[in-house]
Amino acid sequence: MAKIIVFGGTGYTGGNVVREAASRGHEVVSVSRSEPQDRVEGVRYEFGDATEIAKALIPGATAVVAALAPRGDMAGRLVEVYGELARLSAAAGARFLQVGGFSSLRPAEGAPRFVEGDVPEEYRAEAFEGEATRVALADHAPAELDWLFVSPAGSYGAWAAGERTGAYRLGGEVALFDADGGSHISGPDFAVALLDEIEVPAHHREHIGIAY
Ligand SMILES: NC(=O)c1ccc[n+]([C@@H]2O[C@H](COP(=O)([O-])OP(=O)(O)OC[C@H]3O[C@@H](n4cnc5c(N)ncnc54)[C@H](OP(=O)(O)O)[C@@H]3O)[C@@H](O)[C@H]2O)c1
Repeated sequence: MAKIIVFGGTGYTGGNVVREAASRGHEVVSVSRSEPQDRVEGVRYEFGDATEIAKALIPGATAVVAALAPRGDMAGRLVEVYGELARLSAAAGARFLQVGGFSSLRPAEGAPRFVEGDVPEEYRAEAFEGEATRVALADHAPAELDWLFVSPAGSYGAWAAGERTGAYRLGGEVALFDADGGSHISGPDFAVALLDEIEVPAHHREHIGIAY
């Protein structure tokens, strides 16, 4: 069994990841500043700012999942915070899975990323910051760090939580679309894909996308 530390383990993405990981019998530690509405049985909850408590938590981990969001008082802080989590993961020999945004994907091979085009105003700041975290990881991750940057589908989010079906497709940095041209993945199925990748590592130091 793996020891998995989930930064943002009480949020939408992190909450699904801790639930899926605990259901598979892994040792799971959730990190957030505040108490969740409902705790997941078997998960250890640690409270505090990610950068303040990461140093004590990451040593001994098999995998670190970074699922904070650049919103509210975290806007503008993710590159720095994720840089620190990446350094600590590298030092601990832990795999580092960083969750980013759909906008960091490309519509076609060699085409500019969505974030380089017209991003709707309401998503723009988050898309730019998510992309900045991707660039920081791809260009500056410690050489020994086994990292993964993971983009969810376009309609992914707490507003479209969905069900656990166990189905998903993994793509590279070109976005996956379904037959109707949609880009979807439920929160629980995104977590299934992430846990499958943690249990059987198939991608290393690359950008992948998860969608139906
Ligand atoms: N379609 C898309 O592209 C799409 C859609 C949604 C999300 N995303 C991406 O997915 C990632 C996660 O988003 P989400 O919606 O799942 O986030 P979320 O629901 O807002 O959850 C954020 C989590 O991080 C914790 N947190 C925030 N700041 C922290 C800090 N300084 N120290 C410790 N914990 C902290 C929060 O708890 P506390 O506030 O209690 O600390 C919470 O558990 C983001 O990168 C986001 O951009 C992409």
